[in-house]
Amino acid sequence: MDASDADKTLAELGAKPSPSEEHGLSLIRDEDKMIFSPGISTAGFAEIRMVRQHPDRKVVATTIDREGLARAEEIITSLGLQGQIETRLEDLRGAWNYPREYFDFIYARLVLHYLSVQDLEVALKNFTRSLKSGGRIFVVVRSVKNVTASDPHVRFDPDTKLTTYPHYDASGALLSTNVRYFHTPESIRTHIEGAGLKVDSIEEYQEQLYRDFMRRDMSPHTDHVIELVATKF
Ligand SMILES: C[S@@+](CC[C@H](N)C(=O)[O-])C[C@H]1O[C@@H](n2cnc3c(N)ncnc32)[C@H](O)[C@@H]1O
Repeated sequence: MDASDADKTLAELGAKPSPSEEHGLSLIRDEDKMIFSPGISTAGFAEIRMVRQHPDRKVVATTIDREGLARAEEIITSLGLQGQIETRLEDLRGAWNYPREYFDFIYARLVLHYLSVQDLEVALKNFTRSLKSGGRIFVVVRSVKNVTASDPHVRFDPDTKLTTYPHYDASGALLSTNVRYFHTPESIRTHIEGAGLKVDSIEEYQEQLYRDFMRRDMSPHTDHVIELVATKF
């Protein structure tokens, strides 16, 4: 798929691109036919673009968000792509259901930071087992730079490495609390190498946030993310 095709797909779906998504999709090679996408993208946009690159490509996309999955399935079916995109309500912390040497590419964008250190290590070992030799993984996780350590509501659990932090509305009122494993380049590199993968590249940058899932309404905030590509040898 060249850039203009990608733009056409996004325009058709009504969504804006984001740099890490574009980078992850650009890494997928013609020969990557079996792709695993844990934490399906909003409305399945990234997975739709993956299979539109190749009629014989298959993507297995999972999530624990029942509503989000239903919305993605509706769009995928309306485009007639349900034969190429297999969607599953499946938790990365649960049983691992995939054979050895099964996937050519794993697209793990903005999903692994939901896992505690213990769950992350198990998930990454499962990924390694099910990647083919020469297969690659694309990872984007949120950075510790997003955490305001001085906020009295922020709590770090050293056992799980999970941070519980508040989410405020525009007026400063507490909306909700979220839980994530915020990474440094060293932490995500160590976990990936510990799972037996070789890190090819790692970089850290800021990405624009949007208020809505279609990425039409730009938020005043950016997100610090760490992007990593690794290969199984
Ligand atoms: C930020 S969203 C979308 C990430 C998506 N890969 C993208 O690039 O847009 C995170 C996704 O991860 C899913 N998720 C969170 N924890 C998960 C878990 N333990 N197992 C599987 N999916 C999970 C959420 O339900 C959601 O679908």
